[in-house]
Amino acid sequence: MAGLLAPHDSALDAALSASEAAGLPAIQVSPPQGKLLYLLARSLGARAILEFGTLGGYSTIWLGRALADGGRLLTLEADPGYAEVARENIARTELDDVVDLRVGPALDVLPELHAEGAGPFDFTFIDADKENSPAYFAWALDHSRPGSLIVTDNVVRGGTLADSGSDDPKVLAQRRLQEMVAAEGRVSATTIQTVGAKGYDGFTIALVKQ
Ligand code: SAH
Ligand code: DHB
Ligand code: MG
Repeated sequence: MAGLLAPHDSALDAALSASEAAGLPAIQVSPPQGKLLYLLARSLGARAILEFGTLGGYSTIWLGRALADGGRLLTLEADPGYAEVARENIARTELDDVVDLRVGPALDVLPELHAEGAGPFDFTFIDADKENSPAYFAWALDHSRPGSLIVTDNVVRGGTLADSGSDDPKVLAQRRLQEMVAAEGRVSATTIQTVGAKGYDGFTIALVKQ
C-alpha cells in the first residue's frame, strides 16, 4: 500500500537514511501518513504551513511539497543537532527557499513569531513534545483563519487515550486536548485512529470555522 500510493523519491529516501546515520530516532510519520498530510494541505491550497517538531524534516518534505506556488512553511525544532540534519535533508529537495526552520523550544519561539506577525496559517501540524500539544493547539487556533486545518499527531497512544486512570503526562495532555477541542466553538473536529508501520496511534483533525 505504501509503495503503491505513497512511494518515496530519492530525497525522501535520503532523508531517512541520513537521519538514521546521524542517530535520530525513527519516529517520523509513516509514508501513508505523510501522504495524508500532503493531501490535506494540498486540498486546502495551503500557502502558509506551520509545523511543531521537525526531527529530520521527513514530514516537512511531505508538507512542503503540498504548498501552493509562493507558499511558505515554518517548522519548529528544539534540538539543534536534529535541525542540522533536517536542513541537510531539506537542501536535497527544491524546498530550501520555502522552508523556514526555527531552532528552540517552541514555547519560546512562539512569542517571537507572534511579534513578527506570523500567520494566519492555513495548515498546522502539531508533532513535537506531546505534553505541550494543547498549548500548541491553542496558539495555532489563534493564528488560523476560517477554513484552516490543525492536525495533531500521537493522540491515541496505543489506546491509552481511553484510560481515564492514566497518570502518564503525555496521555493526560492528549485527553485534555480532546476535551479542549470538544469544548472549542471555533472548530469542528474528529480523531481518527491509525494502525500501520508506526504502531497504533491517531490524529486529531480540526477545521477552523470562525
Ligand atoms: N514531524 C516529524 C517527527 C517529529 S518527532 C516527522 O514526522 O518527520 C518530535 C520532534 O519534536 C523531535 O524532533 C523533538 O526534538 C521535537 N521537540 C521536542 N520538544 C520540542 C519543543 N519543546 N519544541 C520544539 N520541538 C520539540
Ligand atoms: C513517537 C512517535 C511519534 O510520532 C512522535 O511524534 C514522537 C514519538 C514514538 O513512537 O516514540
Ligand atoms: Mg508524531
